[in-house]
Amino acid sequence: MQHQQTPWQHRTVLLHEAVDALWDDATGPLPQGRYVDATFGRGGHSRLILSKLGPDAALLAIDRDPEAIAHAKQGEAAIRDPRFHIAHAPFSQWAEAAEAQGWGAVDGLLMDIGVSSPQIDNPERGFSFRFDAPLDMRMDTTSGESAADFLARASLDELADVIRTYGEERFAGPIARAIVARRDEGQPIRTTAELSAVVARAVKTREPGQDPATRTFQALRIHVNRELGELEDALDSALRMLAPGGRLAVISFHSLEDRIVKTFIARHSKEEVDRRVPFAQPRPLLLKSIGRIKPSDEEVAGNPRSRSAVLRVAERTGTPWSPELVAAASPRDAGKAAKAGKPARASGKGARK
Ligand SMILES: C[S@@+](CC[C@H](N)C(=O)[O-])C[C@H]1O[C@@H](n2cnc3c(N)ncnc32)[C@H](O)[C@@H]1O
Repeated sequence: MQHQQTPWQHRTVLLHEAVDALWDDATGPLPQGRYVDATFGRGGHSRLILSKLGPDAALLAIDRDPEAIAHAKQGEAAIRDPRFHIAHAPFSQWAEAAEAQGWGAVDGLLMDIGVSSPQIDNPERGFSFRFDAPLDMRMDTTSGESAADFLARASLDELADVIRTYGEERFAGPIARAIVARRDEGQPIRTTAELSAVVARAVKTREPGQDPATRTFQALRIHVNRELGELEDALDSALRMLAPGGRLAVISFHSLEDRIVKTFIARHSKEEVDRRVPFAQPRPLLLKSIGRIKPSDEEVAGNPRSRSAVLRVAERTGTPWSPELVAAASPRDAGKAAKAGKPARASGKGARK
């Protein structure tokens, strides 16, 4: 795919709310710290952050989509600011990208997860059933397996598992069987229109106004991009890399993602004493929860894609990071992570492509 400026625009969601959440007093002196925007997209948040940062501050932006990187570097919209750095990477590796800048800690991490409008609206990317196109769905078009390749090789159980878990699709079994039947007939699915047609035949009923393929497309996108595992890895790194008082601000658009963020913040910000143990000491906490923000009615009216957005904000405490402390918080979370929806075979940590 060519690195060209696309005509598709992205309207940044929760622009001011997310940027203001990155430091304690947005009306105070200009922050001088080091900040990371792990989802550059078209740079809506990055540009506002830069407009607020002091002269000695720095911003590292990251995106796994080469088109986003090209947008930051080339053409009229390029960001030419010595305080700005950009890296092509998955955000699970944001800490490594920051370390490559020589940064040992950061003062704020912003993540506006999911896909950008240019990705969905560009028919070539294969994210949408609204256009007929090769079924790709990779945010990083330079690596990994496309959705079509996954459909061509996955087992029946794996397909059903992915569609059920990531799409929360009742008809996952019939859809998976239909995909495999087509493959067995020597006609593997290669395009968005072919997938839509197969799904439409397998789905018996649908909520009013929802395309039968909506849930299957969502599931494949999440799987192909390992979206939930990426998020978990990025959050884990925040515990280690955020300086005391550093802020974490995450915008999610889906309940599967929001549950991961909510559980993560709660796990590291809620004191729990084991009452069965006499004189038990509370576990030192790594985060303080700052709050949850939804887009205003006005924003939703002007940008319907913001409807499902949720911003969660937390602040790193002064408790030094240690693997033991993180591990101590994790056993309680095992059950919650399972509920957050990770198929046993299809994905999860370690399932990198
Ligand atoms: C909702 S858009 C961000 C829009 C941006 N805040 C703006 O105002 O223009 C999400 C972006 O995050 C990127 N992205 C999603 N998951 C990613 C991941 N795991 N690693 C790196 N980038 C990712 C996508 O490629 C997309 O460009």
